[in-house]
Amino acid sequence: MVREWDPRTASSAEIASLLDTLNAVLAADLPQDPPWRANSLREYLSEVMPGERRISWAAEGDPAADGTPGPMLGHVNVLLLGGMGVLEVLVHPELRRTGLGRELVRVAARRVWDEGFQSIGVEVVGDTPAVAFYEALGFTKEYVETRSVLDLGAMEWPALAEMATEVGAGYHVEFCPGGPPDDLIEAYARAKAEVRDVDDGELRPSSYDPQRLRESLDTLHRRGMKPYIVLALHEQTGEVAGLTEVVVPAQHPTRADQYDTIVVRDHRGYGIDRAIKARMLLELRSAEPELAEVQTWNAQANEAMLKVNAELGYRPDRDWCEYSVDVAELVHRLDNQR
Ligand SMILES: CC(C)(COP(=O)(O)OP(=O)(O)OC[C@H]1O[C@@H](n2cnc3c(N)ncnc32)[C@H](O)[C@@H]1OP(=O)(O)O)[C@@H](O)C(=O)NCCC(=O)NCCS
Repeated sequence: MVREWDPRTASSAEIASLLDTLNAVLAADLPQDPPWRANSLREYLSEVMPGERRISWAAEGDPAADGTPGPMLGHVNVLLLGGMGVLEVLVHPELRRTGLGRELVRVAARRVWDEGFQSIGVEVVGDTPAVAFYEALGFTKEYVETRSVLDLGAMEWPALAEMATEVGAGYHVEFCPGGPPDDLIEAYARAKAEVRDVDDGELRPSSYDPQRLRESLDTLHRRGMKPYIVLALHEQTGEVAGLTEVVVPAQHPTRADQYDTIVVRDHRGYGIDRAIKARMLLELRSAEPELAEVQTWNAQANEAMLKVNAELGYRPDRDWCEYSVDVAELVHRLDNQR
């Protein structure tokens, strides 16, 4: 029932069936989240950064009497990067608690083990069945962030326009749809490198050197995810003093993802954080007329960032956790449970 599946060569019907299952999962587990669309879904599932590999499997229902392949009722993929595999598993709500999730993890974990990787990580959404599932499989919680959602429909735009101008003298704020301009890539990468440990979770790696950054932007575009950036430039030195990144995915263009926001240490205390985030929202309002919400993830300890987000109107939504497990232990446990 479970077979290796390549989204690059899969039929459109298979991609559509996976989309149906994904949307059934979202409706059951995260009913406030917008359903996904088919736009660039194949590319989203296929494209990876250079040096990374994603391997996928499908669990299909029985074929129809006329031979039409059965629906994709479960799916697993694992992204191999660095020394770890990052796992994503989906089981259609109507088939849950039948052991399919465990079987999908078993197949993927066995491959991760065969490929010589040591650990498996997974993002687990708080207050969903995935928490009990991964804990039952022996995963342990490594890190917790809070996801917050901003409703653009409730935004006070004149107040936001005011905020966007409240930046100290000597800084110039610039909007860069598509990514930073090429002549600023190095300064941009330097700014990201300086605060690399501030707000990143391990499963959402950032890119800190110019080449990696170009590759990362290119990968986003190939996956149908459009990056927007607002920069604060320090006029005297030409350095990037602050940056904020939002991505609008073709798969759910009504809800954008806020990625990194960084203000370089020497430039803190000049209102840059608020101003660049406010400017971003104002620009997105005209660049992406379909956009209704923006979601962001923050470490619970990052009080300064949480305060600015609250001022902008972000409301905490739920915990977003990273779990991990040693692959050898997991393979052993799942083989014994068969
Ligand atoms: C997590 C998920 C994969 C589990 O799939 P599943 O097929 O129901 O899991 P299994 O039947 O293999 O369960 C294995 C074990 O996990 C534990 N478990 C799974 N779901 C559970 C639940 N709702 N409550 C308590 N324990 C649970 C149990 O110990 C279970 O063993 P048991 O049924 O013998 O008691 C499934 O719920 C799912 O697809 N969730 C969405 C995951 C996701 O990607 N979310 C992101 C978007 S919301």
